Amino acid sequence: MLKQPPWWQSAVVYQIYPWSFQDSNGDGIGDIPGIISRLDYLNDGTPSSLGIDAIWLSPIYPSPMVDFGYDVADYCDVDPRFGTLSDFDCLVKEAARRGIRIIMDLVLNHTSDRHPWFRSARASRTSPERDWYFWADGKGLWRRPSNWNARFGGSSWTWDPASHQYYLHSFLPSQPDLNWGNPALKAKMLEVVQFWIDRGVQGFRLDAINWIGKDIRWVNNPRRYGWRGYTRQQHLHDRDQPLAHQVMRDLRTAVSCYPDVVLIGEASADTPGGPASFYGTSSDELHMVFDFRLLKSPWRADCFRELMTDGDRAVPPDDWPTIVFSNHDQSRHIDRYGSGGDVDRRARAAAVLLFTLRGTPFLYYGEELGMRNGRLRYRDLRDPYTKRFWPFRVGRDPARTPMQWDGSPQAGFTTGLPWLPISQTFPTVNVEQSADDPSSLFHLYQRLIQLRRSTPALLHGTYIPCKCDHDDVVVFLRRDGQGNGSGRHILVAVNFSERPAVCSVSGIDNEGTLLLSTHDRHEQRMPWRTGQLDLRPDEAVVVQMQAEPVQLFSKR
Ligand code: NOJ
Ligand code: CA
Repeated sequence: MLKQPPWWQSAVVYQIYPWSFQDSNGDGIGDIPGIISRLDYLNDGTPSSLGIDAIWLSPIYPSPMVDFGYDVADYCDVDPRFGTLSDFDCLVKEAARRGIRIIMDLVLNHTSDRHPWFRSARASRTSPERDWYFWADGKGLWRRPSNWNARFGGSSWTWDPASHQYYLHSFLPSQPDLNWGNPALKAKMLEVVQFWIDRGVQGFRLDAINWIGKDIRWVNNPRRYGWRGYTRQQHLHDRDQPLAHQVMRDLRTAVSCYPDVVLIGEASADTPGGPASFYGTSSDELHMVFDFRLLKSPWRADCFRELMTDGDRAVPPDDWPTIVFSNHDQSRHIDRYGSGGDVDRRARAAAVLLFTLRGTPFLYYGEELGMRNGRLRYRDLRDPYTKRFWPFRVGRDPARTPMQWDGSPQAGFTTGLPWLPISQTFPTVNVEQSADDPSSLFHLYQRLIQLRRSTPALLHGTYIPCKCDHDDVVVFLRRDGQGNGSGRHILVAVNFSERPAVCSVSGIDNEGTLLLSTHDRHEQRMPWRTGQLDLRPDEAVVVQMQAEPVQLFSKR
């Protein structure tokens, strides 16, 4: 009997930013009852819905919201802005009725400074929670314990006048870092994991994992001359310590009796050994780790060709990759990839990659509609990071504008004043319009999700990069080692240029059946022209090969 792959390997995960999905009570802020009211859009069991399998919910915990929920004040409750624990229970139940699982966001590296643990820790040097955070004396009268700088700007050390020591924070001063070297803290956090598992959660997205663990000798980080901001020093001592891996192993052990619970890590791209090091040396850490390489890449064939292959190879043979182009921390990929080209056509080609590369696709609310970054004025901004670097960086608020449901004044998101302005595109880019237009990006996402679900090679097949004689075209195969007959080999080709491209793919000269194109093609046996692949500008195709390709280039 073949072992059934775990659910999350075949799943499509949809990230909801709770502030922005659907408001139910007119306060302009999205909430859990709002999400419940929109579940049918995500999956109602019929082909007319999007068809996703799981929701990753960005933090919904009580929080002062300085970092919009990534500053947690209580890990075992729901912020009143979003609803109550019983609303959450209802969400889990209603989602399950539709075959949708819930993945919680778990912020491990830090809490809010309003968390009772930190309040107690700062209240007295002898408090039992004091050691749950990092405290240190200054070097001399005015010098901080080390030169470490914080991810969101400024020093990582803030003076606490009450207890006369500095505390450490890798992000905002209101996000003190937790000391995972303290066994009581670790035990408490494992209770948090259990609390949500008991409520029916089937996974956790673990925030900023490579910041867990510091060199507590407070050694200065070396300077990097010529670099500015966070990268102006080499972060040798304030992150990427072995303890982070130990914590991941402990979490994995803690969930090992729940075979359906998945752990997904977020680590920064420049962590030594790469984020993939968090799969562990023997698959003993996380089930999946985000790979942001493609997300950070320009829309260029040479970059994608290399990064897709690198990304696939970086994942240990028994582990499973993630595919992600957008999230709440980045400018939306439609704007990034689309810059300097045909935005809509590139978004369609990117969608093909998202659902045909090997790994679990993560999509970010609204990307299926082609939602663009909101064009915001300084006074509209809410996120401290976006404000700090405005207007030199796009920042994060533009990608967090409310979901565009219809063409009504607040896009169907709220009856009140939205917490961030609705993006200007909403009259034409919205769910209602997309559903009515068979050529919409939404329909392409739907078709790709269905195609992926019904094609074993796309779900579980190996990834085989192919050589092709056109610089602007990227071609790969997905091969289902277990199946037989047709459908075992799926070829995907993407033309990254704005010109038509005719090319040969070495090792492949047999024809295929066109399963999907981003363009309006009626022919079935295209896009082959006398042994050559014939692609239109910015076109991506998915082709089922009729016969075993002559040669497979790199077997894993
Ligand atoms: C990564 C999260 O995705 C981001 O939104 C947050 O600000 C930082 N971690 C700090 O928690
Ligand atoms: Ca609300």
